[in-house]
Amino acid sequence: MKEIIIAPSILSADFADLKNEIKKVENAGAKWLHIDVMDGKFVPNITIGIPVVKSIRKITNMVLDVHLMIVEPIKYVKDFADAGSDYITVHIEACKDNAEETINAITHENVKAGISIKPQTPVNEIEPLLKKVDLVQIMTVEPGFGGQQFMEDCLHKAREIHDYAEKYGFNFHIETDGGINSQTAKLAINAGVNVLVAGSYVYNAINIEEAIKSLKEGYTNQ
Ligand code: DX5
Ligand code: ZN
Repeated sequence: MKEIIIAPSILSADFADLKNEIKKVENAGAKWLHIDVMDGKFVPNITIGIPVVKSIRKITNMVLDVHLMIVEPIKYVKDFADAGSDYITVHIEACKDNAEETINAITHENVKAGISIKPQTPVNEIEPLLKKVDLVQIMTVEPGFGGQQFMEDCLHKAREIHDYAEKYGFNFHIETDGGINSQTAKLAINAGVNVLVAGSYVYNAINIEEAIKSLKEGYTNQ
């Protein structure tokens, strides 16, 4: 089994104190940092962009896991790569016509490529891409906002992708994003997920280190 990676999402951080908020999760043992980029078109919300990723790159060596919830992501791949992203994940729903080209553009920049599916999107829509990606992200909420409730009925897709990876010998990460807490983390890990994005659960915790630990230890045989 792969190591369980926790990727705190700064969407739930205090943006006025971002450096300290990032140091908090880094000091608490998180190895990845999840950055949610929203354009007000692909999703109703607007968050942060390229200059912020660039500034974050300067203050941390954590793996920057950049989640692009934007239309026509190919247009911005190079900018987010140059800003210092380690992983760039795009939505299949945002690049149906040029998905492979978009993934190629990411790997061309020597950045790891991720593909994401929204709750209503079936796995077969990304199947042709699975041989090319480093990460598959299963959204377990409708993208756009932190603090929403986990949609357990999306987890069968994680299992499906996990089994597919085993069958064909692919080694990509399987990430869930949305509604992760110590209970839902267990369900996700049992479905074959190894990267857990967690925003509100981590940033609202009184003890962030304990919160991260509780997510990591979610594995159960039951
Ligand atoms: C939602 C974002 C998530 C969000 C998760 O569109 O992609 O990364 O920050 O927040 P929680 O963990 O609070 O559901
Ligand atoms: Zn996200």
